[in-house]
Amino acid sequence: MRKKIIQYSVMLVIIGITTAGIFTSAMARYFYKLEVQNNIESIAVLLKNDIVKETSAKSNLDFNKFVKDYAYLLNSRTDKDKNFPLATRITIINFQGKVLGDSDSNIDTMTNHLNRKEVQEAIQGQTGKDQRFSSTMGMPYLYVALPISEHHIIIRISVPLYQLNAINKAFLYYTLLGILAGLLLTLLISLKLSSFITKPVYHLINTSKEIAGGNYKKRVDVNYKDEIGQLALTFNEMADKLDETLSGIMDKNVKVDTVINSMRNGIIAIDNNSKIIIINATACDMFDVQYGPGIIGKNLIDITRNSKVNSLLRETIKNDSSLIDEIVMFSPSLGIDKIYRIYTNTIKSSDGKHQTAGAVITLNDITSVRKLEQIRTEFVSNVTHELKTPLTSIRGFVETLKNGAIEDTTVAVKFLDIIDIEAERLYTLINDILQLSEIEAMRKDDSVMEIDLRQIIDEVVLILKSSADKKNILLEVSTVPSHIQIIASRNRIKQMLINLIDNAIKYNVENGKICVKAEKNNGNTVISIKDTGIGIPEMHHSRIFERFYRVDKGRSRNMGGTGLGLSIVKHIINLYSGDIHIISEPGKGTEFIVKLPL
Ligand SMILES: Nc1ncnc2c1ncn2[C@@H]1O[C@H](COP(=O)(O)OP(=O)(O)OP(=O)(O)O)[C@@H](O)[C@H]1O
Ligand SMILES: [Mg+2]
Repeated sequence: MRKKIIQYSVMLVIIGITTAGIFTSAMARYFYKLEVQNNIESIAVLLKNDIVKETSAKSNLDFNKFVKDYAYLLNSRTDKDKNFPLATRITIINFQGKVLGDSDSNIDTMTNHLNRKEVQEAIQGQTGKDQRFSSTMGMPYLYVALPISEHHIIIRISVPLYQLNAINKAFLYYTLLGILAGLLLTLLISLKLSSFITKPVYHLINTSKEIAGGNYKKRVDVNYKDEIGQLALTFNEMADKLDETLSGIMDKNVKVDTVINSMRNGIIAIDNNSKIIIINATACDMFDVQYGPGIIGKNLIDITRNSKVNSLLRETIKNDSSLIDEIVMFSPSLGIDKIYRIYTNTIKSSDGKHQTAGAVITLNDITSVRKLEQIRTEFVSNVTHELKTPLTSIRGFVETLKNGAIEDTTVAVKFLDIIDIEAERLYTLINDILQLSEIEAMRKDDSVMEIDLRQIIDEVVLILKSSADKKNILLEVSTVPSHIQIIASRNRIKQMLINLIDNAIKYNVENGKICVKAEKNNGNTVISIKDTGIGIPEMHHSRIFERFYRVDKGRSRNMGGTGLGLSIVKHIINLYSGDIHIISEPGKGTEFIVKLPL
């Protein structure tokens, strides 16, 4: 811009000064010619009077000699006069064009002058005028001719316009000088002017660059009241609007992002070319890919690496319909199969035409739901099975008794004992199931109170002492401090301890030992039941708290176990927000450690 201003100013100066020079030089030449013409006209008038006077005195005047003398006088006089340096030439011509006298040349060698313009005009009675270039003299000449009608002659006076070249040269010189001076001045002024104009413009450019670079708070200082100032003002208003709009959009985007990323469902939206438009962090986790802006625009199959998801979405777009399905995917981070329920739907364009613009998929992790369903089904079949076994046994023995065994009293008593044991077993089983479902249905235990743990342990030991004695098992109890208060339901804690100590006895060896310890540790009540029994192999550790799970089914059943004991323990502990873990090695014994928050 600065360059342009200087260029245009220089061009303007050159054009201006040159045009002025041309016009002034034309004017000077015009006035110079006018001046010369007036002078020679005056000389012509004087000469005319002199000739008229001479011819009236002398009838036979020698025009040639007369004009030569006259011109000599005239030129010598003019030579002295510096302001009037005319080499005046006088010619007398008759009306037939014959030259009668000439101050400069021999009239005998001179041609007929009738066709000269000034001569023609003079013959018609006017003052003849002409300007011609004399190639002999190499300069322009001005001619003035006056008729003396009574003598049928014409006086013609000519002067060279040698000043014209001088005028041209002078004007060329001064015009060039003017251009030079003008250029220098223009350069100085335009430099100042251009910096004055361009400075705020550059400021505007730099500010707009900064805004384009992301600094939306940048503004132009408005120090001018002219058009640039107006522009700066409008620019700032525009930047304000832009900032406001962008903040609005960003705010909206952040909100949408936050909402989408807070959802527990995976969401992926694709366009008609299967390119990802939206994906949330949950979906990224599900497909084990890194969440980030770089994922947008990628191909769906490259991200999910799942042909079913891909084909479901393609089908949704193709048929313009919503679909529901399920997929099973292995999660490398968790090392398990995950089950997802998929819902797909088309995305419609927002331009009013409602054309399909892509599709959206929602993935719902139903692994735990499926697991629960499976547990429930397994539970029902387990319960049925567990109930069926004693019932079949009871029915069998009743049948045998009915068929005559009742007659033999010894056999009958033995059979009735078995029926009693099986009925007892049924009772225990139903009782356990009821207890379990009761605790399971409970969110919070309302029957809590402050209870003395040591007292409950002692009661449980008393209950189980006889069965421990049967195997000659030593039951040791130690609590630090001697009395520990906990807030829980007395019956449930008692049930928990019975189940754990009962196991420690049941799965212990003859002459074994059981240590029951309770202490306070880091805000928890820690209870440990350690036995010297058969132990539990590592592979069963994670499963022994499941309902009906038994390490050795036959052995447990023989001991009258239902496989619900540890499941009830786990549920009771969960009810009080505690936890349980197991340390066990086959052949060495088992330790169950229960932690209950105080
Ligand atoms: N202290 C232990 N030592 C070795 N194995 C144990 C011990 N406690 C539990 N187990 C194993 O864990 C399984 C589950 O125990 P759980 O108490 O739930 O059932 P159960 O003792 O078989 O039956 P229930 O307790 O309902 O009468 C047992 O069958 C047994 O195999
Ligand atoms: Mg048990």
